[in-house]
Amino acid sequence: MKALVLAGGLGSRLRPFSHSMPKQLMPIANKPVLAHVMEDLRDLGVRDVGVVVGDRGQEIARALGDGSSLGVRLTYVHQDLPRGLAHCIAISRDFLGDDDFVMYLGDNLLTEGVKDIADEFRALRPAAQVVVHPVPDPRAFGVAEVGDDGRVLRLVEKPRTPRSDLAVIGVYFFTPAIHEAVAAIGPSARGELEVTDAIQWLVARGDDVRASTYHGFWKDTGKVEDVLHCNRELLDGLKPAVAGDVDGTSELVGAVVVEEGARIVRSRITGPVIVGAGSVVEDSHIGPYTAIGRDCVLAAAGMEDSIMLDGARIHSVGGVHGSVIGRDATVSSQARTNRSRIVVGDHSSVVVAA
Ligand code: DAU
Repeated sequence: MKALVLAGGLGSRLRPFSHSMPKQLMPIANKPVLAHVMEDLRDLGVRDVGVVVGDRGQEIARALGDGSSLGVRLTYVHQDLPRGLAHCIAISRDFLGDDDFVMYLGDNLLTEGVKDIADEFRALRPAAQVVVHPVPDPRAFGVAEVGDDGRVLRLVEKPRTPRSDLAVIGVYFFTPAIHEAVAAIGPSARGELEVTDAIQWLVARGDDVRASTYHGFWKDTGKVEDVLHCNRELLDGLKPAVAGDVDGTSELVGAVVVEEGARIVRSRITGPVIVGAGSVVEDSHIGPYTAIGRDCVLAAAGMEDSIMLDGARIHSVGGVHGSVIGRDATVSSQARTNRSRIVVGDHSSVVVAA
């Protein structure tokens, strides 16, 4: 079985970060979402992975390379514009050939993996197998109606009045039958070739289309709150490991990772927390649920439930929580002044304590 990972699209809901990086490279527990996806695929025994990329393809290729460090072989497929998930399948036909494949949306995070569902697909080989997850409000997703025997009766993309609570999540298993369906459908009301419509085409033709329920943690990491939620979820499984320097006056409590070359000085860190390679934490209180990237500086800082991207700095600012600080960004306070100076990029959001 091959895999197709979709990493194009615009990522407008993840602004301001998507101005400067593709959303699929957003680090969660210090690893890009796409690296988590590749690990999942490797666990399914998949080696050949096609990655559909848009304008930001070069950055993605720089981060993932040929995939060897992640245990997979990557082939990049360029998409000129985000024309829909089924369009991604159409333009990847040469890579996919007539093999079965798993399609994985590059902004989806599933902490438990889908090994049992992949095994089911390999054993039964229905024309298509979708993965569903019950959610309180499925209107933002593809929605499946599923019979008692696990067969899909109907699929609708983002329905105004959903007929079930089963959201279709970002992992799909296909036999080559899907290519016929993709060729048969036309664009939806939002102008995209919807994979949901292609699968519904198979259902309408009477093909065997199945749904399996995934019960673990799942999120589409499209928004900042979702990224922080995923970060908390992944950090919950963190195993403590200290490769960097921790001075005698600092205290590490719970699961704390201090990567190589990182230094902790006169600080208290309450896990789960990762301090990335080369970062310095001085006179600070950090954690829980904080992931600090590489080469960051935190001095006289207080921070919890947050993400700092590589090279970010915080000086003399406490009480930071639920925050994401972008690459090489600086947040600081100044004594003896009642004036603030703020230089933030487009679509940023800053909330200061009153
Ligand atoms: O997250 C699950 C949902 O994903 C499903 O429930 C929906 O049925 C499915 O259509 C999809 O909906 P979204 O509107 O959330 O898809 P999004 O536009 O966010 O794209 C998902 C991923 O695919 C994302 O990593 C970007 C990439 N993509 C998207 C499009 C439209 C491409 O690579 N090319 C594209 O043309």
